[in-house]
Amino acid sequence: MNLKHSTEQLIALKHDTKISRRAFTKSLIAVPFAVRAQQNPLRARVKIDSERTIGDIDPKIYGNFIEHLGRCIDGGVFEEESPLSDSNGFRRDVMEAAKKLNVTNLRWPGGNFVSNYHWKDGIGARDQRPRRLEMAWGTVESNRFGTHEFLQYAEMMKTEPYVCVNLGTGTWTEAQQWVEYVNSAQDTAMTRLRKQNGRQDPWKVTYWGLGNEMDGPWQMGHRSAEDYGKFALEAAKLMKWTDPNIKLIAAGSSHFATGIDWIGWNRTVLEHLKRHIDYLAIHLYVGNRDNDYYEFLTSSLDLDDRIKTTEGIINAAMSGEPRNRRIHIAWDEWNVWYRARGQQQRGRRILEERYNLEDALVVATFLNSFVNHAHIIKMANMAQLVNVIAPIFTNEKGLFLQTIYYPLQLFANNTKGTALELFVESPKYESKRFGLVPYLDASAAYDNGTLVLNVVNRHRDQAIETEFEIQDKQFAGPVEVAEVNGPDIKAENDFGKTVVQTVTRSTKGDGRKLRHRFSPHSYTMLKAKLV
Ligand code: AHR
Repeated sequence: MNLKHSTEQLIALKHDTKISRRAFTKSLIAVPFAVRAQQNPLRARVKIDSERTIGDIDPKIYGNFIEHLGRCIDGGVFEEESPLSDSNGFRRDVMEAAKKLNVTNLRWPGGNFVSNYHWKDGIGARDQRPRRLEMAWGTVESNRFGTHEFLQYAEMMKTEPYVCVNLGTGTWTEAQQWVEYVNSAQDTAMTRLRKQNGRQDPWKVTYWGLGNEMDGPWQMGHRSAEDYGKFALEAAKLMKWTDPNIKLIAAGSSHFATGIDWIGWNRTVLEHLKRHIDYLAIHLYVGNRDNDYYEFLTSSLDLDDRIKTTEGIINAAMSGEPRNRRIHIAWDEWNVWYRARGQQQRGRRILEERYNLEDALVVATFLNSFVNHAHIIKMANMAQLVNVIAPIFTNEKGLFLQTIYYPLQLFANNTKGTALELFVESPKYESKRFGLVPYLDASAAYDNGTLVLNVVNRHRDQAIETEFEIQDKQFAGPVEVAEVNGPDIKAENDFGKTVVQTVTRSTKGDGRKLRHRFSPHSYTMLKAKLV
């Protein structure tokens, strides 16, 4: 056997009559040596120790986001004229699919939209609400879905609401009065207005965002870090004096590719706000623009680096502050987003990304990364819930679940408790940006005798035989196996066609050991009882 040829290439040459010898030789040049030199079958080893902990997994890492953008709210969660909607105008099918994602918190109303959103436009009789020009995404906002609709939706979803205030064109008073309207039990003009509009008791919303992506020139009311820090500080004071129980999330910078000094922004903003905020918000969207599968599958390494850098900036800002005063990261927008992006982001059918299997694998690696940084990532919000870069996709007759729905569903419903630090010895490939990258990407959670392992096999063509060994416990009973996979990395779901989904079965551990063969291009969750 010519060791310079990877096994998958030899198999392809033998079986695929369509592959020409020239294409085959060309493909050899493109395949990195580390890949070519792999032995077949590929093997990996993972060591688990239930006492080697990273931190508590905050359930809020399974948050989501709905913005007044394209068909996310209007035509997604809310479609008043649809026979599929309830008497509030909420799409029943969307809510049912969303509930299965165990969305632990829901961010609203934007995103870029919020920076010119005046919340008083969205209360009172629906038919009398003003129609406003919407400049973030180039539409007209009907304001028919406002504060009451959102908070009722959150109640019905049994999710924690997270409201972001307008620190673009909005004022301090507007932000303060929104907290008062929503949370106050005092008898004031604002709370009388709330009651007049049908809500007696305050909703007691805990999570409030201080604006969105204020570092970006694309933001309405964009400011410098210094100006944002000063402005947000006054808003924060008024909001916390209105309700001391609220938690505040500052707009951090994450615009790594745009030439914005994101590290400087975060440092400055923290200097102004460190005594008032609870989270720093960061965003990341990734894509496979060069159609390079292996490179795309390294996206979560970028996320890891960003988390570490941001944590360092927070630690530096907090040195000298009381130890019990903590600021965590809220990764409150993340996803794959690159196809439905660019010049045409205006109007109604925008950001309607269709996802394939490789996107679902990247989503699983992002979730692994959040779990592996459970000590500092205490909130994360996939952007967004429906139609707009989303796991749920509707038309007027129904919906289908995109590929990315499945890993999110498995993580959100199973990966809880304490994150464990794993020892992973896996075959690797050479990537352009990150050097050697392991084919296996993993995370683990331990909760009251239940171990959950999440493993992505990045290898496009080969399975990986893996041996798990627990240091301090034994496997007991059957092990649940849930695999998300599909016929090929570009496979997509559609209306009436589900080719990428979760397939479950069961296996068994043997004392301290468990063996599993991870299929090529797959994400697998293993759930076991330990004694
Ligand atoms: O989620 C889509 C958009 O991406 C949001 O409105 C904005 O915050 C981000 O740039």
